[in-house]
Amino acid sequence: MNHFKRFIICTLFFTSFNHSKAQIFFKTHPGINPYQFETIKEKLFTHAAVTSAHPLASMVGAAIMQDGGNAFDAAIAVHFALAVVHPSAGNIGGGGFLLARTNNGKLIGLDFREAAPAIASRDMYLDEKGNPITSKSLEGPLASGIPGSVSGMFNAHVYAKLPMAQLMEPAIELAQYGFVLTEKEAGSLNSVRDELLKLSSAPSAYTKNTKWKKGDTIFQPELAATLRRIQINGLAGFYEGVTADLIVKEMANGSGIISTTDLKDYQTKKRVPIEFDYKNHHVISFSPPSSGGILIAQMMKMISPFDIAAMGYQSPAAVGLMVESQRRAYADRAEHMGDPDFWKVPTRTLISDAYAQQRMQDYTPGVAGNSKNTNAGHAKESEQTTHYSVIDKEGNMVAITTTLNGSYGNKTVVAGAGFLLNNEMDDFSTKPGVPNMFGALGGEANAIAPGKRMLSSMTPTLVTVNNKAYLTIGSPGGTTIPNQIYEGLINMIDFKMSLKQSIDASRFHHQWIPDQIQVEADFPDATIQALKKQGYKVNQRGYFGRMDGIRILPNGKIEAAGDKRGDDSVAGY
Ligand code: GLY
Repeated sequence: MNHFKRFIICTLFFTSFNHSKAQIFFKTHPGINPYQFETIKEKLFTHAAVTSAHPLASMVGAAIMQDGGNAFDAAIAVHFALAVVHPSAGNIGGGGFLLARTNNGKLIGLDFREAAPAIASRDMYLDEKGNPITSKSLEGPLASGIPGSVSGMFNAHVYAKLPMAQLMEPAIELAQYGFVLTEKEAGSLNSVRDELLKLSSAPSAYTKNTKWKKGDTIFQPELAATLRRIQINGLAGFYEGVTADLIVKEMANGSGIISTTDLKDYQTKKRVPIEFDYKNHHVISFSPPSSGGILIAQMMKMISPFDIAAMGYQSPAAVGLMVESQRRAYADRAEHMGDPDFWKVPTRTLISDAYAQQRMQDYTPGVAGNSKNTNAGHAKESEQTTHYSVIDKEGNMVAITTTLNGSYGNKTVVAGAGFLLNNEMDDFSTKPGVPNMFGALGGEANAIAPGKRMLSSMTPTLVTVNNKAYLTIGSPGGTTIPNQIYEGLINMIDFKMSLKQSIDASRFHHQWIPDQIQVEADFPDATIQALKKQGYKVNQRGYFGRMDGIRILPNGKIEAAGDKRGDDSVAGY
């Protein structure tokens, strides 16, 4: 974009955003049409790229970079846009992790994970007999942690170039003037209609009397007004005043416990990323309260002594080896991982080479392990979420994974504010030894405490080669996320696949308990049968995850790819 056009947009923007109801962003970007757009699954770009769960969000991010923004500007604009166009997981009522590497090599980890309210307590989801009441940690206002996303975006803005108001404008216009639903988004909204009505105190923009269908335009005026309050008042537009009051009012409608003080006190935290090397690649991922970075470090280190490429892609030998690393690492997750501000996570030990070797000492190729015999190692010291990746023309890389936990979170839309709240409290161990919605076990490390952040599996990940930016990648999918990233990286590094092939490849998942391999429906049958003969229990299931990534090829071109499993789409220039 030339300087004159940029000047006109900025002038228009600053003279009108506060007062006018007119569209600014979409008027000045006629190439992005919220009423007619297509999905682009894979493309090479010269300067910069975005991949996200929705074509409109990706296009908004790319346009922001063409308007002079960097990868952080784009990521913020994409985040707010996803809160509008992808309400099952995009959010302002949830939380997430931002992992970034600037073009001069500085690493940034922002933890805007939800936190337990001040009056949360260890046994708050148990009945008189001490048994978990799962609906309480999953549905309605009591299931919500204090939302972190808006704080996360304002903390990310420190690294951005453009005014926050400009970055929020596309989302506000998408909410106010509407956009057309894709077939998947329409079907998804229809599938939760009854629950949204049951668990919210008032009907919302997401429900109507007839079924949503592809091509319908959805308008979200209350969400537009909330975003406008944030645009005008900054953090206080969400964590204080009208929006905060509406959240607390919605709490009262369903025995929720988030207070105005909880909201006002919420803080994004900086985290030091996990870093390790694997076959000439330097992998950077998120540290606790995410389990993701530690898990992929453990698993990749456990298999690094083996020539997995020689075993063959998705061969019984290669899958068996990776499954055994998954079993061992996930056993450690249950025992050792939680919010590091409340629990001493033995990170250094868990990701050490020596520990990985020791964990694999009892591995016998071609024989199924048994989770009853695999305890955590001795280490002293809705699957609905969404991921997006950005690389800008300066080589800054940003990976953000953000979530409401379950699809549409706790299915409570804050009346008058138009956004969904998370049900992230279910990611705590509501009772040590009892699985959560992902079937994952947890122990004391992840017990509920006021102010504590629940253990996550979100794994935004970056890779450098020879100290140069190479890859940004991530995915939704609850506890399957670290395994998806692990498999995606091995597909690219060992099996030499393109980014798109490695993202679309059929997946397998083992998480220690339950002791079974879950495979996607298109997983090769010959491998399934061979694994069963070795003693594995194998369960076929539907697709899991929607991985979105971008990598820089040796010729400098930027390869962006969106997962075949959703509406994921790339954009760039
Ligand atoms: N709520 C899914 C996760 O954080 O892992």
